[in-house]
Parts: sequence; structure tokens; C-alpha cells
Amino acid sequence: MISPEAKPDDRLDQTLRPTSLADVIGQDQVRENLSILIDAAKQRNESLDHVLFYGPPGLGKTTLSHVLANEMGVNIRITSGPAIEKAGDLAAILTNLRAGDILFIDEIHRLGRAIEEILYPGMEDFALDIIIGKGPSARSIRLKLPRFTVIGATTRLALVTAPLRARFGAVYRLDYYDQNSMEKIVQRASNMLSVPYEIDGIKEIARRARGTPRVALRLLRRVRDFTQVRSNGIVSYQTAIDALDLLNVDILGLDEIDRRVIRTIIEKYSGGPVGLSTIAASISEEPDTIMDVVEPYLLQLGFLDRTSQGRVATRIAYEHLGMVYPEDDKQPRLL
Ligand SMILES: Nc1ncnc2c1ncn2[C@@H]1O[C@H](COP(=O)(O)OP(=O)(O)O)[C@@H](O)[C@H]1O
Ligand SMILES: [Mg+2]
Repeated sequence: MISPEAKPDDRLDQTLRPTSLADVIGQDQVRENLSILIDAAKQRNESLDHVLFYGPPGLGKTTLSHVLANEMGVNIRITSGPAIEKAGDLAAILTNLRAGDILFIDEIHRLGRAIEEILYPGMEDFALDIIIGKGPSARSIRLKLPRFTVIGATTRLALVTAPLRARFGAVYRLDYYDQNSMEKIVQRASNMLSVPYEIDGIKEIARRARGTPRVALRLLRRVRDFTQVRSNGIVSYQTAIDALDLLNVDILGLDEIDRRVIRTIIEKYSGGPVGLSTIAASISEEPDTIMDVVEPYLLQLGFLDRTSQGRVATRIAYEHLGMVYPEDDKQPRLL
């Protein structure tokens, strides 16, 4: 339920996507930086600098990329790291771009190395080097490309190679949204979807959506279903609580997987330190889900500490699960 990865059901969110920078809620600093980037490019009549967005899934990387295209009044061509399998795939995309166009590469950390090599001259010199012929007679010719903009998005900045990262003029980190922004996002969506609500119901959904707009929109849909079937169709404080409890999403937005991760660290590994892949294996979950989705939020809550030997559960994590924190032998190690 709380998985910030996109699900088929989430396609409806597209209609809820803000289209202009002014409609984007939260991420104030990123928004301000983007508005300067846009204005500067427009004033100089240039294409936008290459932009890299990183942060956990569901926080608005794709949304902001579309907003940039709208604000610049240019086309956006969408692809992803794993989708570009061969050098020829990228060459075909690049040669079809028009001046000013945006090439959005999602999951850019999954681009193959050979593909990256082709992208470098594209980003730097707006050129495409192609090899013609084979063996000793092979020669390289350079095609000129129009000035275009690459927008990369990744949940794992650490996996983006240094040379690729260096080619982005602007790198922005998206953070979890604060309660106030989350409330505005849920309220805006409720208005757009014509869902009747009481403001306290909106606040409760926002509170349990782990600072992630995609999760908030999903919870809103489920609460709407619940209230339609079990109540009077109005999202109220009580129906929000009842629906979210039924979904096993607790007051901090943790769901079953989050709680299992913490419980495993505490019960099986006496509080840690333990490596994330070990945890993933022992609860049979994808390491990617644990790394992209579960861990960042638990770190944000202060439920986990990162140490060189692995993750350690903190006192508040024990307390949240109603478990007793072992005072004596754990304390010194956390210092
Ligand atoms: N700042 C925002 N304001 C309002 N809605 C947002 C915002 N950021 C994201 N959303 C909503 O959340 C959904 C998920 O965002 P998305 O851009 O797909 O995340 P990401 O690409 O980072 O995984 C979008 O469909 C959009 O409706
Ligand atoms: Mg995305």
C-alpha cells in the first residue's frame, strides 16, 4: 500500500500532476532554483541546462521534468536507463530530437556503460560519434545534434557514475514533504477528483502518507472507496482513521514491510548492526524495495542509524513497536 513505486492504478495521478511551476506544492528550494534556471535560459534564448533529480520514488521527479518542459514550451521525450539497450537505440533517439527538446531519462543509474559513452559527447558538445566500417578501415564521423536538454532521474545517486554526474549542470535532491505541503497536495487532489471531505480527514491522510505525494494520492483513493462503501461518502477524520487502520498503515505511515524490517533487526539481529541485504533476504523482500523505499523513510524518522557495519535500530523504533529498549548493552554502541 505504501510502496512509493508506481502501480497501474496510479495512472490516474497523471491528471493530478501539476503542469506549471506555480502549481507545484512544496520543495520550495528546488522550485526556486528551477525558476531561476528557466528564466535564465529564456533570457539568453538558450536550451535548459542538463538537470539531474534524485530522491526516493514518488516525490515528483517525473512531475518536475514535465513542468520544466511546459515552462520552457518544448517537447519532452521520455525513456529510461533499462529501456535503452543498444547504442543504436540512443543514437536513434538523439538524432530525432529538435532544438530545445528535453530528453527525460528515468532510472538513469541503470544506463549501460557503453550507452553512457555515447551520451557524453551528446550532452557536452551536442554531437554524436558514429563508427563506420569495421577493422582497420573503420573511421569515426561526428554528427552535429541540435542543442537539447537531458533531464535524468534516479532513486540512487550513488549508482550514477562520476563522469555522467559531472555532465549535469544542475543536480537537485527531492526530500520528503512536510505535513503542511502534504495536506495541500491531498486537498488539491480531493478537489480535483470531487471527493467530499472534512479537513481533518485530509490531515490524517497527509500524516500517514510518509511525506510522499504518490502514497498520499493512493491512500486518498482507498479512503474514498472505504467511505463510499462503509459510510456517507465524505472523507472525515474518523473514516480516514478507520480506512487507514484497515490498510495497516499506522500513525507514522509505516506499513507491514516497514514494521517487519524493524522487527527483524530487533528480534533476529538483536538491534543490529546488520546489512540491508541480509534483512531483505531474511524477510524475503526485494533489496531494491528495502533500499529505495523502506530505509530512507526509517532513516528520516530516526528509526535507523547507519553505521559502517550496517543498520542499527534506535530507541524510538523499539518504542514505536512497543518493545523494550535494552539499556545497558546497546547504549554505548550508539554513541
Ligand atoms: N509537488 C507536488 N505537488 C503536487 N503533486 C505532486 C507533487 N509531486 C508529485 N506529485 C504527485 O505525485 C505523483 C508522483 O510523482 P512523480 O513525479 O511520478 O514521482 P517520481 O517520478 O519522483 O517517482 C504525481 O503523479 C503527482 O500527481
Ligand atoms: Mg518517476
